[in-house]
Amino acid sequence: MELPVIDLEPYLDVVSGKYCGDEVLNPQLKTACSEVSRTLKETGALLVKDPRCSAQDNDRFIDMMEKYFEKPDEFKRLQERPHLHYQVGVTPEGIEIPRSLVDGEMQNKLRSLPKESQPLTPSGPDPKWRYMWRVGPRPSTTHFQELNSEPVIPEGFLEWKETMDSWGSKMISAIEAVAEMAAIGFGLPKDAFTALMKNGPHLLAPTGSNLERHGKEGTVFAGYHYDLNFLTIHGRSRFPGLSIWLRNGKKVEVKVPVGCLLIQTGKQIEWLTAGDCIAGMHEVVVTNRTLESIKAASQENRSLWRVSSTLFSHIASDAVLKPLGHFAQSPLADKYPPICAGEFVEQELSVINLKGNRGEL
Ligand SMILES: [Fe+2]
Repeated sequence: MELPVIDLEPYLDVVSGKYCGDEVLNPQLKTACSEVSRTLKETGALLVKDPRCSAQDNDRFIDMMEKYFEKPDEFKRLQERPHLHYQVGVTPEGIEIPRSLVDGEMQNKLRSLPKESQPLTPSGPDPKWRYMWRVGPRPSTTHFQELNSEPVIPEGFLEWKETMDSWGSKMISAIEAVAEMAAIGFGLPKDAFTALMKNGPHLLAPTGSNLERHGKEGTVFAGYHYDLNFLTIHGRSRFPGLSIWLRNGKKVEVKVPVGCLLIQTGKQIEWLTAGDCIAGMHEVVVTNRTLESIKAASQENRSLWRVSSTLFSHIASDAVLKPLGHFAQSPLADKYPPICAGEFVEQELSVINLKGNRGEL
């Protein structure tokens, strides 16, 4: 299935230019906003093109992360912070546990899916590494201090901070534009979501999967799960493998065109819309398309580490998650009682005995 690609440029031209403040959107832009909210609702995902996030920016980031993940395990483990619950620095492979392994309700749900749409069953923890890097300003006062720790920079990577911060802030800008367009499409004020994202504990959390070691078809890199944050964004990976589940339960493999970004809905947007938009289920598995890319990369002598340039955007920890605007009148609103976003994240993570604020379970 081809997801539509939304070009953010016309919207950005309007909001950053002549209509500051009380924008009057032209009919085409209103249609684009409705397409954003409708696609998020129906598919839990969206492809966008943002002129501020070029394919070259994405390449520069992935090149650096490949160089990092190719380092020996002993080097990478110097960036491991288990006492900080892996909130910053590296998380080695074999630590993250897919929720489908521990959540009985989710296991029942996935058993009810038609055979062709069932996820692959992981046999244990995810065989992928992850690096956690915070992006954006932190709140001066917060009730959730433990979610905010000092960044970790690997030795010898002089470009690390600049590359991480620059790619991270570009992806947040793209998310903000999508969040505004979605708010308009959902019939909410333009800043309904972005006002709550201010000073949120956003995380740039690229993953590294060693396809040389784990490149067998059917290997599950990220077992069937949803993201607990607001919206997740990824640049294009050099190796395909991500599948998403549409609202109707159908499983589809995502193809991200060059120069595009992929957005996925997390649990926090589900809360704010009283389930009108639900958190998208997804998994990352070695498929035959991944095998083709592995073959091509080997022939061209390129890295066999699959890097995902994932960024988890969050609602600020001290902001309250509750159905917004007209969603408060939804018959499902009772399922989404008011809760501080920071408390919500802690609650979700306690399910699998992890702490911190990473975006996925
Ligand atoms: Fe995820």
